[in-house]
Amino acid sequence: MAAPIYFNFLVLFLTNSVWTRSVRQVYEVTDPDDWTVLSSDCPQECFCPPNFPNALYCDSRGLKEIPTIPSRIWYLYLQNNLIETIPEKAFMNATQLRWINLNKNKITNYGIEKGALSQLKKLLFLFLEDNELEEVPAPLPRSLEQLQLARNKVSRIPQGTFSNLENLTLLDLQHNKLLDNAFQRDTFKGLKNLMQLNMAKNSLRSMPPRLPANTMQLFLDNNSIEGIPENYFNVIPKVTFLRLNYNKLSDAGLPPNGFNVSSILDLQLSHNQLTKVPRISPRLEHLHLDHNKIKSVNGSIMCPASVAVSGEHDSFGYAPRLRYLRLDGNEIKPPIPMDLMICFRLLQAIVI
Ligand SMILES: *[C@@H]1O[C@H](CO)[C@@H](O)[C@H](O)[C@H]1NC(C)=O
Ligand SMILES: *[C@@H]1O[C@H](CO)[C@@H](O)[C@H](O)[C@H]1NC(C)=O
Ligand SMILES: *[C@@H]1O[C@H](CO)[C@@H](O)[C@H](O)[C@H]1NC(C)=O
Ligand SMILES: *[C@@H]1O[C@H](CO)[C@@H](O)[C@H](O)[C@H]1NC(C)=O
Ligand SMILES: *[C@@H]1O[C@H](CO)[C@@H](O)[C@H](O)[C@H]1NC(C)=O
Repeated sequence: MAAPIYFNFLVLFLTNSVWTRSVRQVYEVTDPDDWTVLSSDCPQECFCPPNFPNALYCDSRGLKEIPTIPSRIWYLYLQNNLIETIPEKAFMNATQLRWINLNKNKITNYGIEKGALSQLKKLLFLFLEDNELEEVPAPLPRSLEQLQLARNKVSRIPQGTFSNLENLTLLDLQHNKLLDNAFQRDTFKGLKNLMQLNMAKNSLRSMPPRLPANTMQLFLDNNSIEGIPENYFNVIPKVTFLRLNYNKLSDAGLPPNGFNVSSILDLQLSHNQLTKVPRISPRLEHLHLDHNKIKSVNGSIMCPASVAVSGEHDSFGYAPRLRYLRLDGNEIKPPIPMDLMICFRLLQAIVI
């Protein structure tokens, strides 16, 4: 009876020591310093996970200041504290930082020392959501790829803020206080790789001017945008997802060619003041037109090609790739036109 017990114990002991050794090895590869340095440079307010030596967890601790960050840290979690300032000193040696999460703090622009962020030459992601910023902070590190500023009080973008951010792909400014006058001629110049721009829930009355040429996702829901200038989309020839839900768009505010832009695949225009279906591109796949004032719909225009082709109409305005269509909350009176009824069978989803 005793032998098997002894055997089990031995196996446990062996696996345990192998595990300890391999963990130690991870450290030696990532960092020449040993265990004692790792634990001694860990700020006492924070947690330094032993199996992830590049990360530092200081979130949700009621902190009022950023502790001094050790130089080995790549990923820094400081969200959900009471931090008001970003002094240069805190990040002075933290030149390896790739990712900083400062969401849900009390940071103001006055609290950010001038070189505090720009000295981080390898920073890729900066999260500053739910703070008290009134301006986009500047200068920012040129390496930045994502800047998340949702739910602040941003109404100003200092000149040249974005001019060097050639690697920025995502800029999230939703739920701020931007007015049309926040933009200069060259505000977005230099953002060569920007793909997603989110300015939903601000106070814009016009479309933002001169957007970066590579913009694919443009989110402008919940503003007060009344119209779209003619040829607006010429400078953003890759725009694929366009959201303008909850604005004040009327038929008169649309350019003659409407949304007949071949790059757009997903167009969301819910909760506006349109009385007619605007012109769309034959490549469009998703169209949200619910909660407007549309009175009638010409089914020949909206239906996929297989129906349209059998009719007498030429290719004017057909949407052969349309798969999702919302028309509910409009003023379309029954009976629903026969040709639109046929759409029910062809679209994956249609709501009237
Ligand atoms: C930065 O590192 C140097 C050299 O290791 C050290 O002397 C200095 O105290 C550090 N500064 C901060 C703010 O931690
Ligand atoms: C931008 O990204 C490229 C490719 O990752 C990199 O080589 C370059 O150094 C980055 N630019 C800056 C300013 O960090
Ligand atoms: C826009 O406002 C509506 C109504 O208040 C809300 O339901 C929706 O979530 C908002 N969308 C955005 C992107 O802010
Ligand atoms: C629907 O549109 C087609 C093509 O423009 C047109 O020929 C037709 O008369 C329209 N039908 C109605 C009911 O307006
Ligand atoms: C959409 O644009 C294309 C190419 O620019 C054009 O040929 C077509 O007539 C336009 N359709 C409508 C409905 O304006």
